[in-house]
Amino acid sequence: MFSLKGVKYKDILDINELHIPGEKITCIIGESGSGKTTLLKLLNNMISCDEGIILFKGQSLYDINPIELRRKVIMLNQNPAIFSGTVKDNLLIGLRFAEKSIPDDSKLINVLHQVYLKKRLEEDAEILSGGEKQRLTLARILLMEPEVLLLDEPSSALDQNTEKEVIEQIIKDVKARQAALIMITHSRLLAEKYGDFIIEVKNGQIFLIRERR
Ligand SMILES: Nc1ncnc2c1ncn2[C@@H]1O[C@H](COP(=O)(O)OP(=O)(O)OP(=O)(O)O)[C@@H](O)[C@H]1O
Ligand SMILES: [Mg+2]
Repeated sequence: MFSLKGVKYKDILDINELHIPGEKITCIIGESGSGKTTLLKLLNNMISCDEGIILFKGQSLYDINPIELRRKVIMLNQNPAIFSGTVKDNLLIGLRFAEKSIPDDSKLINVLHQVYLKKRLEEDAEILSGGEKQRLTLARILLMEPEVLLLDEPSSALDQNTEKEVIEQIIKDVKARQAALIMITHSRLLAEKYGDFIIEVKNGQIFLIRERR
């Protein structure tokens, strides 16, 4: 789905060759500061590489309208923003921005169940805990139903049990829609449990740890 060849970005990444398959779970691991977030940002053209080629489904990423691309390839940042307003406002913000149709409340309640967030739609989002906010932003992204989900440490604020439940729900959703999930995690255990593909970023280079086709 993504192919990178000779990709360089500043002195941060130097990727000889990397292929990320579609319809699979790819986990990216590596030390803090190794370049994981930078790699994810390259994939939805938030930043462009200085050298090399990045293909998305065989087409150069830079030939695709960035707005079109980001409808299909959606990234959840490492520290995503919560906006003032209710839980519902926060769920709908991505869809509104993308000018997509607004689902009814039952679908919104369902997505809250998917991320194990036991809050009402009318509740004030800003008073949620850190981990609850993280799940709310995940729910917001799930509603967008992207072809590729780029998640930057989506469970960093969650306890082990909640992390397991939430990640398994996301994977279930992604598989049911035949979408792809590319997820950065600080947890090698998590990567080993769920990753079909495991990539390690080390000193700006990429090492393939597992390749399960
Ligand atoms: N736009 C930029 N210009 C210059 N340096 C940058 C830029 N963006 C990131 N960096 C540097 O690149 C390195 C890799 O950053 P990146 O955010 O990709 O790391 P990471 O692997 O995601 O780390 P963490 O696990 O802490 O989130 C860091 O040293 C960072 O300071
Ligand atoms: Mg990062």
